[in-house]
Amino acid sequence: MSFLPKFVSWEKVARIIDAGRHAPSCGNVQNWKFIVIFDPSQKQQVAEACFEQYEIAQAGVLIVVCAEPDKAERYYGLRGERLYSVQNCAAAIQNMLLEAHSLGLGTRWVGAFDEDAIKSQLAIPEEIRPQAIVAIGYAREIPPKPPKYPLEVIVYFHRWRNRLRDPAKYMNDIATILARKAAAMKEAAGDIAKSVVGKTKDKTSSVDDKKEEQEKYSDTP
Ligand SMILES: Cc1cc2nc3c(=O)[nH]c(=O)nc-3n(C[C@H](O)[C@H](O)[C@H](O)COP(=O)(O)O)c2cc1C
Repeated sequence: MSFLPKFVSWEKVARIIDAGRHAPSCGNVQNWKFIVIFDPSQKQQVAEACFEQYEIAQAGVLIVVCAEPDKAERYYGLRGERLYSVQNCAAAIQNMLLEAHSLGLGTRWVGAFDEDAIKSQLAIPEEIRPQAIVAIGYAREIPPKPPKYPLEVIVYFHRWRNRLRDPAKYMNDIATILARKAAAMKEAAGDIAKSVVGKTKDKTSSVDDKKEEQEKYSDTP
């Protein structure tokens, strides 16, 4: 996603972060903070720390989503610190992407950055971990949709590797099921029609044969 050098209003940014803060988090711990960057030279520096992904400096705003792993660790130990903190922030980020999209904005989720450089640039304390930088702005163009695995490849039923034999049926894909039923009924109707035509033909010919025979042996001229 590349961006037009266009201003994004604070009203929109606030709505996006509002969507982020409503995301689920382990025990509702909400162990996240959002650093909002509008300043062009700071955006440039951040872009450099993202291994020179300079396109994001064009975005109207950069939001650095930070986890506070200690807070989750207090309640959930190592799992809270290492896993839940990451998941909490990811849920917040995804909410933000969706809200931005619904406001007509484009986004880029940036995970590739030099963590130490970002931390020192933004005065982030030691115990806090920046998880991602969300670049938001007006899209220069709508990128083509990247290919995604179909459901039958990524869904297993009841145990690992147990793939679907009939994905449409399991996924309750009503349109496909109805289309199949309609095709089956059409075929059945075609068969019936064929056999009815065949029988009528047989009957008609036997009537004609009888008539001919009667005429042959009839006394009346
Ligand atoms: C954890 C994570 C890190 C990512 N890091 C970057 C990144 O550093 N730079 C970038 O351009 N895109 C990054 N992306 C975006 C992915 O490249 C993108 O989501 C993927 O290509 C699929 O495209 P889609 O989101 O349009 O479906 C990241 C996405 C995730 C989830």
